[in-house]
Amino acid sequence: HDIVFLTSEIYPFSKSGGLADVMGILPLTLSRMGVRVAVITPFYGRLSTGHYPVHLVQENCPVGYPWADTTADIYLADYHGLPVYFIERGEYFDRRQYYCTHKGDYFDNCERFIFFCRAALAAIRHMDMGARIVHAQDWHAGLAMAYLAFWRRIDPFWAGVRTVMSIHNLAYQGRFSYRLFEQSGLPLDAWNMEGVEFYNSFNLLKAGIAYADKITTVSPSYAAEIMTPEFGCGLEGILTRRKADLIGILNGADYSIWSPENDEVLECTYSADKPEGKENCKKHLMGMLGLSPDLAERPLLGFIGRLRGQKGIDIVLEIIPELMKLDVGLVVLGEGRAEFEAMLMSIMEDYPGRIVGIIGYTEEMSHLIQAGADIFLMPSRYEPCGLTQMYSLSYGTPPVATAVGGLRDTITPYPGSGANGFIFADPTPEALLATVRKAVQVWEDRNAWREVQVSAMQTRFSWENSARKYMDVYTSLHGDLLDTWR
Ligand code: ADP
Ligand code: GLC
Repeated sequence: HDIVFLTSEIYPFSKSGGLADVMGILPLTLSRMGVRVAVITPFYGRLSTGHYPVHLVQENCPVGYPWADTTADIYLADYHGLPVYFIERGEYFDRRQYYCTHKGDYFDNCERFIFFCRAALAAIRHMDMGARIVHAQDWHAGLAMAYLAFWRRIDPFWAGVRTVMSIHNLAYQGRFSYRLFEQSGLPLDAWNMEGVEFYNSFNLLKAGIAYADKITTVSPSYAAEIMTPEFGCGLEGILTRRKADLIGILNGADYSIWSPENDEVLECTYSADKPEGKENCKKHLMGMLGLSPDLAERPLLGFIGRLRGQKGIDIVLEIIPELMKLDVGLVVLGEGRAEFEAMLMSIMEDYPGRIVGIIGYTEEMSHLIQAGADIFLMPSRYEPCGLTQMYSLSYGTPPVATAVGGLRDTITPYPGSGANGFIFADPTPEALLATVRKAVQVWEDRNAWREVQVSAMQTRFSWENSARKYMDVYTSLHGDLLDTWR
């Protein structure tokens, strides 16, 4: 393989957020463009293997020091021609959730993802997969960058292998104690400020940033933001030092899954040319959720996402009384912090028939809301890229969003030519409220709204474009790859 991806999630096998969506399409797009790609990911207990059978290809693959006697079983699925390898080790991955329960993170997350990185690299070697470039995603895979930086000095097998680290969310770094560093099997000289050490803790994402040959993140704006103290989460120093190797590549959207014209989940399909079906989707959704019929002629606001500070759900909840004065409906789908879930449930009781909160994770409902809502709320405090606003654009549900990261790079604000959504500077309740008011006003002017909606639906974030930028990163590390792809 030219490129081997290491990721903790990949749609449709596993998913807790946008990383899974990206891994479900970027490798596939590259492989359709002639790049030989494979993906390695954990074999979770709750893997959805339904349409893509998974079979054992390597039993007892030795993981090696510091797990001298430990092995992993390697499974393989064929995802539209893309080989996806699964690292199976029940004691680490056969659990109800991927990273945490409601009570907090799993106590052994560090050990689990040290194991994942070691086992993935062991599988590449043992099964002779060949890997010119190992491309790690987020903190879970960060350590692989550090191992390879050391191993390629001493082991000819790894000598020519180059590495790329992609940051999908800098706020999740995987920070652990020194004791776990000792268990990682990395040489002692990795424990320093330019290595894996971060204020006396063992930082797996920092390991990736420090040792990878190239670093990417998921939008150009976020790439610039993370070099500042405001968005750098303490890593702005090392990121700035690595500026020459840091590049922001905007994610795309997978329009085979996120298009209203061929979405099988919908009551009625529709498109920019034939938008009538969206009305039916709204009616259907409102009926299903028990929203009051007198709201049928008013805008329906939608929110989908992790109920965490990042996504600004608290800002939405804070302006509920004011929002309700605008005579709009609101549907929220998400799960996350217990206090936000509880607040949402209690607000829902205060406004029966006007606000519906759905706590939980359902792919199908997310499609129904994208299609049935009129306006999509995304008041994120930071947003590396954000995919839900790309999907809402595609479904003709213009977003109201903060001017951060990928939101800034994907939304053209109203008023202005080509406007496809609404943007405000600071993640405050006042700014959100003022911007929703503006959006509702535009919605009330059918023609003006139609224009914004059509621009939204015509906005395209092509994965081919982004894949080409990744290919440029790869060829900057191995120039000869260019010849094989031509
Ligand atoms: P992030 O990765 O930060 O959570 P993104 O916008 O990049 O944000 O991607 C989120 C993905 O997860 C989207 O595919 C979105 O539809 C999905 N998602 C988030 N919360 C839920 C939920 N409660 N139910 C179904 N899908 C969800
Ligand atoms: C992260 C970010 C999100 C991004 C996704 C995929 O989860 O929070 O903004 O879209 O990764 O790259």
